[in-house]
Amino acid sequence: MDSNHATTDQNRVVIFDTTLRDGEQSPGCSMMPAEKLRIAKALADLGVDVIEAGFPAASKGDWESVHTIAREVKGPIICGLARSSREDIDKAYSAIKIAARHRIHVFLATSAIHREHKLNMAKEEILRAAVDAVRYAHSLCADVEFSPEDASRTELEFLAQVVEAVIAAGATTINIPDTVGYTTPQEFMEVFAYLKQHVRDIDQVVLSVHCHNDLGMAVANSLSAALAGARQIECTINGIGERAGNCSLEEVVMALKTRESFYGLTTGINSARLYPTSRLVSTITGMPIPRNKAIVGENAFAHESGIHQHGMLKHHSTYEIMRPQDVGLSRTHLVLGKHSGRHALRERIRELGFDLPEAELNRVFDEFKALADKKKELFDGDIESLVLRAGDSAVGPWLIETLWTSATSGSAASAVVRLAHSDGHHVEQGATGDGPIDASFKAIELATGISIKLNKFEVRSVTEGEDAQGEAIVYVEHNQRSYRGSSISTNIIESSARAYIEVINRIDASRNSAPPTHAQLERTAQLAKVTV
Ligand code: KIV
Ligand code: ZN
Repeated sequence: MDSNHATTDQNRVVIFDTTLRDGEQSPGCSMMPAEKLRIAKALADLGVDVIEAGFPAASKGDWESVHTIAREVKGPIICGLARSSREDIDKAYSAIKIAARHRIHVFLATSAIHREHKLNMAKEEILRAAVDAVRYAHSLCADVEFSPEDASRTELEFLAQVVEAVIAAGATTINIPDTVGYTTPQEFMEVFAYLKQHVRDIDQVVLSVHCHNDLGMAVANSLSAALAGARQIECTINGIGERAGNCSLEEVVMALKTRESFYGLTTGINSARLYPTSRLVSTITGMPIPRNKAIVGENAFAHESGIHQHGMLKHHSTYEIMRPQDVGLSRTHLVLGKHSGRHALRERIRELGFDLPEAELNRVFDEFKALADKKKELFDGDIESLVLRAGDSAVGPWLIETLWTSATSGSAASAVVRLAHSDGHHVEQGATGDGPIDASFKAIELATGISIKLNKFEVRSVTEGEDAQGEAIVYVEHNQRSYRGSSISTNIIESSARAYIEVINRIDASRNSAPPTHAQLERTAQLAKVTV
């Protein structure tokens, strides 16, 4: 194997993160290029071996963000996904080749269901298209991964035939996806055992696993594949992804680490960075982390019952199999206030697991002082939200300059908003509505000329106390796509209006980076057949 490969240690599992590709495919989880870059840098700090940065052929915006990550992020292999067509492979390669270590990930469905109903291709055509695509990708790039999509529902004999043929054509990693989350740990182990027994040169490639969580077994199935010889696990932060999501990175990594004596496998992940990375992804994608989520949920290390608390006081190992600090969780009840200085803030930020460059620290310190003027005590949740939010200006062209609202019970509320656009012009607009938040939303829509359908609106408190900050989250639809925006303030009308502006900014940005349309997806079958 050449140096482009992630690792050569037999017991070391390669962690392939697909938060920015499969994770982004969760409805409403689309991210802006600057947000993707921020996550990619956090993934590199976390120690992942491979970052699947996106699907460059999906849109111009996708190509650009994969290319930016390939240019800016040092350390991990940067991977781009491609369907089995020259056009896709060329786009993937041109986006990633600037990275010191890069990989093309080619896929083509192999199951009877996909062959018949999606691709309308016979087995021989699939075999030929897969081989041609891998051979072409390999002519450009030494590191080529191939995924027989829906492998877990593919006839074993045909799966082995395809895998053997693509290895001969130059694939260096063979990924076996459970695309629809259908398999079980025992069954999946048998699939890997079958491939190991029946595929020539299988020991010359890295075997990989990619599980979806439709039956809640993505982590278990991935671990089972690792026991059967898989040495790459594909996963996402917080398990985000299509439908019920993908194998959760933090869970699979902590299972391997906590039960190392059982699995005998290691990863290169710095587990102390799991919690901050999970918070970052949750904030950027707007996908909240369930309180009882393993490893990174709010309750993952909380002990409620008296018997458990008693045991914990005697010795933590009575009811704890991992320490909170192992995953980067070091929350305290230490409270900061307006007299706290830059040094105290920097220390607290560091203890929370964030390492901010000086310019970012200055921004957070200024916002900390402004918040401390409005709020007596600042808790960990407040500090975290200041660190994780890059500020409205980073998201897009529109910014709220002023917002005025008035409401009297029994009559319509009114709002007047003044917005600044990054091209230098300003717009002032008034509207009435059913309450001040509704009036603000209407004024923003009129001012920007973008009308949206509000599907869901939530307000929750970020920390405790009477003067707690309120986080507003809006979920909307525009041109059949879903978007989400969120913002935090001690004033919930202000946070709601800012969340609405964030959505408008995301819509504005996505005009450049729309995901594949239905018609493009329909062309998948044809693309698989053409020109390779
Ligand atoms: O779930 C899946 O099959 C995929 C492939 C592209 C690997 O995401
Ligand atoms: Zn997937």
